Amino acid sequence: MSIKNLIIAFGGSSPEHEVSVLTAMQVFAALDESSYALVPLYITKSGKWLGGDFLKDLSNYKDLKALESECYPVSFSKDEMGRTHLNEQGKHRLFKKQISIPVYAVVCAFHGSEGENGSFQGVCEQFNIPYTGSGVLASSVGMDKIKAKQLCEANHIPVTSSLDFYESDWEQLQDTILKEADLLGFPLVVKPANLGSSIGVKKVDDMESLIDAVEVAFRYDAHILVEVAIEPLMEINCSVLGTGENCQASVCERPIGNTETLSFEDKYQRGAGADKGMAAADRVIPADISLELTNQIRSMAVHTFKTFDASGVARLDFLVNADTEEVYFNEINTIPGSFSFYLWDKSDINFTQLVEELIAIALKRHQAKNGRIRSYETNLLNEKAATGIKGLKGIR
Ligand SMILES: Nc1ncnc2c1ncn2[C@@H]1O[C@H](COP(=O)(O)OP(=O)(O)O)[C@@H](O)[C@H]1O
Ligand SMILES: [Mg+2]
Repeated sequence: MSIKNLIIAFGGSSPEHEVSVLTAMQVFAALDESSYALVPLYITKSGKWLGGDFLKDLSNYKDLKALESECYPVSFSKDEMGRTHLNEQGKHRLFKKQISIPVYAVVCAFHGSEGENGSFQGVCEQFNIPYTGSGVLASSVGMDKIKAKQLCEANHIPVTSSLDFYESDWEQLQDTILKEADLLGFPLVVKPANLGSSIGVKKVDDMESLIDAVEVAFRYDAHILVEVAIEPLMEINCSVLGTGENCQASVCERPIGNTETLSFEDKYQRGAGADKGMAAADRVIPADISLELTNQIRSMAVHTFKTFDASGVARLDFLVNADTEEVYFNEINTIPGSFSFYLWDKSDINFTQLVEELIAIALKRHQAKNGRIRSYETNLLNEKAATGIKGLKGIR
């Protein structure tokens, strides 16, 4: 049996770079090296693609500069048979021999930005290789808080009332925007459309702090969302595993924050050791809510996962008014921290089984894609070559 080269892709220019490294380390620890050759593909914060076994050990990440100097550049390419390889440029290797390994599948262990927003998924599509998690569409719409809300609204998934605007609108129509915000009613929450980890997210109680928060949010994004704050707030998250056609919901969790809005520190830096990744954050599992509310949120999570046509494992985050128990979609995380494994071990699916399932789903989707006709034989170019450039007139 030929060796299955499983690429573990992680890092990237994201505020959640370090969290992604932790998820990747969990994957290296969980998978059996007798079933796969585990091959790291680490994208640095500045976007370099690096490889090397040095990347498999968490203790080597204390000094990211030193780490880079121990690794070598890698890239994808196709061979004459159309198979995709990961090529290592072995600068430490004798005679600088280039090493090239055929790719079996890619485990996407990124969080945030280009690794989660469909960009990296698009690269995998271009190279026609199986990759875990959602495809390009769900990844990119899921990353954009404004587009995600619009998609939910169109599919009768409740979202908070909001308005959105671009920087040029803010420059020209600030008074109108502020009037509309006032009509929504304070307190409001200001968010950049495309970031994560609570960066640029601010709850505001008056006009002055709204203006300040918008100015800060524009440092991160050109498109801003202002939405009604839910009070008193209870946050409930639920993970969904599978494909748009066939998926199941996990138990629910209730994350606990120090402040009114969960900060980056609440999410990743409080609680137990950092090597436990997202499992270390403070949370109640299963969420201490009624069975009725649990069932409502689980079925909303499945409906939302299907609406986005997500794949693999996602975490759906909801905002709940703790008094009225009204539930609103907040966001979909198409690559949740630590793959939300801690929500699946209650369903007797451990981290290893979860990653194996993600790989199985990736292979199935890849097979389905390749089983369909994707190109059409035409003799258009033959004909046009015969008539020359003039023959192109009228072609659109
Ligand atoms: N409409 C809202 N009402 C009250 N709190 C909110 C609202 N939206 C977000 N928050 C708080 O801010 C936190 C971060 O917002 P979120 O939309 O989840 O952004 P991020 O992608 O950065 O996680 C949430 O976890 C929640 O605590
Ligand atoms: Mg969030």
